[in-house]
Amino acid sequence: MEKGQSMWGGRFRKPPHELVEAFNASVHFDKRLAAYDIQGSIAHVRMLKRQGIIAVEEAERIEAGLCEISQEIEQGRFEFRTALEDVHMNIEHELTERIGAVGGKLHTGRSRNDQVALDMHLFVKAEAGQVLELLHTLQEVLLAQAERYMDIVIPGYTHLQRAQPVRFSHHLLAYFWMFERDRERLQGVVRRADLSPLGAGALAGTTFPIDRVDVAETLGFAGIYENSLDAVSDRDYILEFLFALATVMMHLSRFSEELILYSSTEFGWIELDDAYATGSSMMPQKKNPDVAELVRGKTGRVYGHLQALLTTCKGLPLAYNKDMQEDKEGLFDALDTVKPSLRLFAGMLDSLTVRKDRLDTLLQGDYSAATDLADALVRDGVPFRAAHEVVGNLVRYAADRQIAFVDLTPAQLAEAAPQVAPDWISALTPEHVVEARTSRGGTARFAVVEQWTRAEEVWRSHR
Ligand code: ARG
Repeated sequence: MEKGQSMWGGRFRKPPHELVEAFNASVHFDKRLAAYDIQGSIAHVRMLKRQGIIAVEEAERIEAGLCEISQEIEQGRFEFRTALEDVHMNIEHELTERIGAVGGKLHTGRSRNDQVALDMHLFVKAEAGQVLELLHTLQEVLLAQAERYMDIVIPGYTHLQRAQPVRFSHHLLAYFWMFERDRERLQGVVRRADLSPLGAGALAGTTFPIDRVDVAETLGFAGIYENSLDAVSDRDYILEFLFALATVMMHLSRFSEELILYSSTEFGWIELDDAYATGSSMMPQKKNPDVAELVRGKTGRVYGHLQALLTTCKGLPLAYNKDMQEDKEGLFDALDTVKPSLRLFAGMLDSLTVRKDRLDTLLQGDYSAATDLADALVRDGVPFRAAHEVVGNLVRYAADRQIAFVDLTPAQLAEAAPQVAPDWISALTPEHVVEARTSRGGTARFAVVEQWTRAEEVWRSHR
């Protein structure tokens, strides 16, 4: 670009070095904000008109020009140029090319600092809305699968060691509530992003008689920033959004890890649909859980974007600093990671099946009814600590001989734990064990059905 051709060239004797131009430019990524930029500009120019800051006829020409540009961008016919630095100057430059010098009046009372902040607020609100929708759909799948698998009993773990059996429905509903918290966090992000920064100018406001509240209302904001410095310096809402997205990924990643484990031969009770698995180019027998692995793997990059922006912001004096241009690519990439992950995960979850035969084999012969056996002794008057010891000894005795509880003979039982009646043991099926946990939020059928009903009510009340 020749000296004087740029929008700020007036005070310079020569144009920037070509490497500076490329280094400084953001248009290759911030063009993603074009629709919001134009929406904001139209609201701004209408306000300038209403306030008598620019003439009606001028405002109308500017708005018409912006509408044309908007259509061309939508149809992919607009050519963004690196030399024009960012999305804001690309659009404004094109406007002036089209309608002449009057296009230069659009930027009256405005700076790119409040302009870009406005674009990002609009973007964050819209994108958070989309993530909320995707979570809603994933929760719908969780409810459906929990209903379908209400009576499937699976091993429950702590430390990834067999603990107590649980219903698969109960396990799925745990994720329902995790994603519900993710939704609440995102709603909080939207609430706090719902303030218009426009009118803050570069940092201190403007000398023109603008009406900030009016523009905010046109654009659907609940209010405006009270402080012009804060308005252009704040990136909290982006950080919060990144944290909420990172937490969504963390939840998806834990769930992925479980699907990977439980579909492996060693566990083998989850069967992923072929459409959500891939093969090996060498080993014909392989069925790999690539989708789940990639969701788990991509979690790190979303964490990275949160860390990166926190670090970018930590040493910044008020108000705008060019460092802040770094807020965009990470957020864009985080969204391009989280949204497909949520979509794919919902499909993968919806299509997976459970192998009941495999679960029956797995559940037979473990000692996960040990707590219930100790509880039975307690009901018989034995103090819990003593009961724990008796059952612990019995587990060691049975494990040494590689016998399941249910396969212990009365003679063996008499030898290892005379306090335990043989019929207590035969009653301790996994189904019995889950049914016995009748506390609210526990595994008994009626408790899980009640929980499911509450979850479904919450889900229905979304929006
Ligand atoms: N491209 C810039 C950004 O994303 C827009 C604001 C530029 N403002 C400035 N004073 N250089 O942050």
